[in-house]
Amino acid sequence: MKLFLDTANLDEIRQIKRWGVLGGLTSNPTLIARETPSDIETYMKELCTEVDGPVSLETTAEQEDAIYDQGLKLAQIAPNVVVKVAMTPDGLAAGRRLVDNGTPVNVTLTFSPAQAILAAEIGATYVSPFLGRIDDVGADGMHALYEICEIYDMQGYETLVLAASLRHPMHVVDAAKAGADVATMPFDVFTKLVNHPLTDLGLEKFLADWKKLGNELKEGA
Ligand code: E4P
Repeated sequence: MKLFLDTANLDEIRQIKRWGVLGGLTSNPTLIARETPSDIETYMKELCTEVDGPVSLETTAEQEDAIYDQGLKLAQIAPNVVVKVAMTPDGLAAGRRLVDNGTPVNVTLTFSPAQAILAAEIGATYVSPFLGRIDDVGADGMHALYEICEIYDMQGYETLVLAASLRHPMHVVDAAKAGADVATMPFDVFTKLVNHPLTDLGLEKFLADWKKLGNELKEGA
């Protein structure tokens, strides 16, 4: 399972990139607006240059033709752009045309296996089920993800399942168990993946013992 960062913050991208585990980036209009870029296209280009992997940039138009045109423009920003279209009739129609035109598409705002079947049928590269937001309305996001992965396996769909809206490390672990191809998560979830109190305690003890040995050797010399 590839690990993507869900952010539009360059500093967060650089920090996770340093670990050598960053497989790609997902963004959305909210995340980009949070960074208040003065020139949106230049900023999007910077994001794409910073990441060695696919970068999902989202369309904001609502009608098929406008989504399609915007998608083509986004795809020209960099060779690693994946165009996000929303799971709506217009989003699907524009997504299908983008796919036919050779543009990789990520169908976003997906909340059910039925919607995920539609994303696969238009030939999207990724489908993004939003697990956390499903949980937010009292349903079971992980169960939906298991069902989507099972259906995709049974049907031999090539669309990759990108588990999104992940809120904590167990979401990531469970997404891997469900068979998701990608997990995208915010910076704080990424950092929680690496942190463990026993690692800190163990390291502290190892370093203290090492220092003690050094001191003993110095004293004996
Ligand atoms: C994914 O592409 C989305 O940007 C993201 O996962 C949404 O997550 P949220 O529900 O935490 O906003």
